[in-house]
Amino acid sequence: MIEQQIKSAIRDIPDFPKPGITFKDITPILKDPILCESIVNAFAAHFQNAKIDAVAGIESRGFLFGLQLAGKLGVPFVPIRKAGKLPYTVKQMEYDLEYGSAKIEVHTDAFKPGQHILIHDDLLATGGTVTAAAKLVTEMGGMIAGFSFIVALGFLDGRKKIAPLADKVVVLAE
Ligand code: PRP
Ligand code: MG
Repeated sequence: MIEQQIKSAIRDIPDFPKPGITFKDITPILKDPILCESIVNAFAAHFQNAKIDAVAGIESRGFLFGLQLAGKLGVPFVPIRKAGKLPYTVKQMEYDLEYGSAKIEVHTDAFKPGQHILIHDDLLATGGTVTAAAKLVTEMGGMIAGFSFIVALGFLDGRKKIAPLADKVVVLAE
């Protein structure tokens, strides 16, 4: 079963990037091309009947499967990047981190108002990143078609943050 395969592949790294944090390392998944294909297919199966005009992936780990998922669904890929990386005109969204804040950006011509955007990231933790991405998309006139994550950390509040859209959330491993 895919959930078990994902869970066995993810490697816990204690005290990274700082003491007390256990980092979920997804790189072992990337070494398994069959599992990678299963992940893309599992996401695609969930969204095959949904109206999706583009997949937006969040830098950087959201790019790994986001582009593949867009390809599988036959729609464009939209990169949502950390501030200062995108060269054209951008819309920016600032969000709070545990300490301080972060900014993400998207190109202003990445999609058209009214289009249905599936937001993809590898991991749902506090939900801060994906909430900011959703705000960015909706403030540009996009509709949220759904969210896809490989894994969600159950002990954090990410699920609560996106609860109003719970029926549109796909998580392959909890
Ligand atoms: C990680 C992860 C998600 C985000 C989840 O990215 O890939 O994007 O954190 O955390 P949250 O739900 O608490 O917002 P990170 O910012 O470490 O950067 P990376 O993807 O470039 O490694
Ligand atoms: Mg990330």
